[in-house]
Amino acid sequence: MHFNIFTLFPEMFGCYFGASILERVQAMGLVELAVHDIRDFAHDRHRVTDEPPYGGGGGMVLKPEPIFRAVEAVTGADPARRGPVILLTPQGRQFTQSVAQELAGYEQLNLIAGRYEGVDERVRAHLVTDELSIGDYVLTGGELAAMVVIDAIVRLLPGALGAEGAAESDSYATGLLEGPHYTRPAIYRGWQVPAVLRSGHAANIARWRREQALRRTWNRRPELLLTAPLDEEDRFFLGRLAEEIGGAGADSS
Ligand code: 6GU
Repeated sequence: MHFNIFTLFPEMFGCYFGASILERVQAMGLVELAVHDIRDFAHDRHRVTDEPPYGGGGGMVLKPEPIFRAVEAVTGADPARRGPVILLTPQGRQFTQSVAQELAGYEQLNLIAGRYEGVDERVRAHLVTDELSIGDYVLTGGELAAMVVIDAIVRLLPGALGAEGAAESDSYATGLLEGPHYTRPAIYRGWQVPAVLRSGHAANIARWRREQALRRTWNRRPELLLTAPLDEEDRFFLGRLAEEIGGAGADSS
């Protein structure tokens, strides 16, 4: 999968792309991450990329020419022959796990990191095909958001994670929050790992984990239970949980 990232701050990406899973998937040839400096496509003498807004008001707006030129030089002039052109902006549609899954199906994605007060509207209207926000808060620019989006997509690609299928049991992929995890030692400062996890009984462990996920989702994000795929056994457990909580109050899990 090929990512083009268009930014005024290419140096922000080196550290994150050069470590851990993002480094590995590039070394494997599974992913290419090409960072392009928008300023390289500003052809005036001072390589200006932003100007004050028409009509006045504060801040600066990214000019259209360098952005159009950058995207067209890198991906070609024909919009039909490049992947989606995605602007990272707080006005975009909310990025979620299901959007990550949708975008993981493309061969090429082109991400434009917005900056300052915004981007000239003609970029949005005539170059961009999608706009994404990573949440309801304002960042100084789209760079972090682009890294978030790329990270969430890349780890879904087959072969990206060490253990095959590791992404399938993730919180959100199952529609539920994950339950607790434990590793050695079996007793730490007197706190014990639940006996079922050390029992070696695979079916009991799977059921316990499912119930812990249901319990945690109930306590922290109950609205997810409205859309999560649940089976008969899950519903029975939730019914018991409702009685338990009705009587004794929620625990802290
Ligand atoms: Cl994509 N950009 C900026 N600047 N702020 C954000 C965002 C994006 N998503 C949430 N906040």
